[in-house]
Amino acid sequence: MNDLFAGLEPQAARQDMTEGAVLMRARALPQADQLLADIQRISSLAPFRHMVTPGGFAMSVAMTNCGTYGWITDRRGYRYEEQDPLTGRDWSPMPQSFLSLATTAAEEAGYPDFLPNACLINRYEPGAKMALHQDKDEKDFTMPIVSVSLGLPVAFQFGGAKRTDPVMKHQLQHGDVVVWGGPSRLFFHGVLTLRNGVHEKAGSYRYNLTFRHVVL
Ligand code: SIN
Ligand code: FE2
Repeated sequence: MNDLFAGLEPQAARQDMTEGAVLMRARALPQADQLLADIQRISSLAPFRHMVTPGGFAMSVAMTNCGTYGWITDRRGYRYEEQDPLTGRDWSPMPQSFLSLATTAAEEAGYPDFLPNACLINRYEPGAKMALHQDKDEKDFTMPIVSVSLGLPVAFQFGGAKRTDPVMKHQLQHGDVVVWGGPSRLFFHGVLTLRNGVHEKAGSYRYNLTFRHVVL
């Protein structure tokens, strides 16, 4: 056999990261082409843009949304809105490909009642990163987060309830899905700087879909 992999465990298809948090390797691979096509369509109506934090810094990650609510940030703060501030129009409805992947992945992770009404679409280019943070603008924390990775790989950090808790690093690849909820719903997470590369399906980008249930 190939010596290169001697002594290395094959990567398990399903990995428990911490309480309530599951990593499902390649779970979205069968749907990946459809997801990428839907991202292109959505972003032709609501373009990717670098939003500004309340502190006045442009984010390195470019974002757009689909679903009833979209996550935005500007000088007034972080929040969800029903209209895209760039176009004044409603966000596109969540495509069926997004909805069925998110609900079935949540169910497989132990969250059978997930009903996402918001999907943040993150686009990373080499050099982009996302600092450790909690997803806490949704107001209701009974439902999990479902996070889908497409395109270039990146190092994902998953910590604990406190910013200073130790973090575990997981390399996320095209098609990987992470679900966290219940006891880990508000755990800190982030991604390290995206490295240069070219992905056969996504070019020099990494995309991330983050599904959430939001109440205003
Ligand atoms: C996020 O936490 O919003 C993004 C995580 C990721 O890009 O994997
Ligand atoms: Fe997040």
